Amino acid sequence: MSKARIAVLVSGGGTNLQALIDAQNRGKLRSGELALVVSNNPDAFAVMRAKYAGIPGEVINKKELGQEAFEEKLIERLEEEKIDIIVLAGFMCILSEKFTSRFPGRIVNVHPALIPSFCGKGYYGLKVHEEALKYGVKVTGATVHFVNEVPDGGRIIMQKAVNVEEGDTPETLQRRVMEQAEWQILPEAVEMLSKQICENNG
Ligand code: GAR
Repeated sequence: MSKARIAVLVSGGGTNLQALIDAQNRGKLRSGELALVVSNNPDAFAVMRAKYAGIPGEVINKKELGQEAFEEKLIERLEEEKIDIIVLAGFMCILSEKFTSRFPGRIVNVHPALIPSFCGKGYYGLKVHEEALKYGVKVTGATVHFVNEVPDGGRIIMQKAVNVEEGDTPETLQRRVMEQAEWQILPEAVEMLSKQICENNG
């Protein structure tokens, strides 16, 4: 049975992309193959991670192109590469309805909180953990969900809780949420979806 073709969209450091690469190398991601990495940001280290892993990595510069041309170019590349699953892994752009409606049930995102807490427009990266600490929650975590036209609003696929500890800073909390939740549930959810797609196609 042929594997689902996966594209990963990134903007920064790419530790979640690395978790997917490691899962593929260890055979935990086996129903899908990482076929393309696209960054909106030319300085993203994630593109280097793709290159080191032998995965085609490219930049489509959103700042230069603007939202519409960026999405058009992205769609063109995803279709050329016959991508089945689009994974947003630390991807800091909001995609339009025109884009999301083209790939229903095929786009997933990892968010560093337990949705519906600390999510939606303006909640990304470290900001999410700053807000969680400010609120004083004792438990936070990560969510993998489908992407639709509502930021962080698509159906939840998987979640994992992580304890907040005394003395946490946004940075220490971010790291713990990554280690204990994001890097585990993202590869698991991507394998699950890849398997479903392979079974439906095969
Ligand atoms: C991760 O914590 C990811 O969940 C979050 O940004 C970080 C990126 O890390 N994404 C969002 O906030 C998207 N709304 P990475 O580049 O090392 O994977």
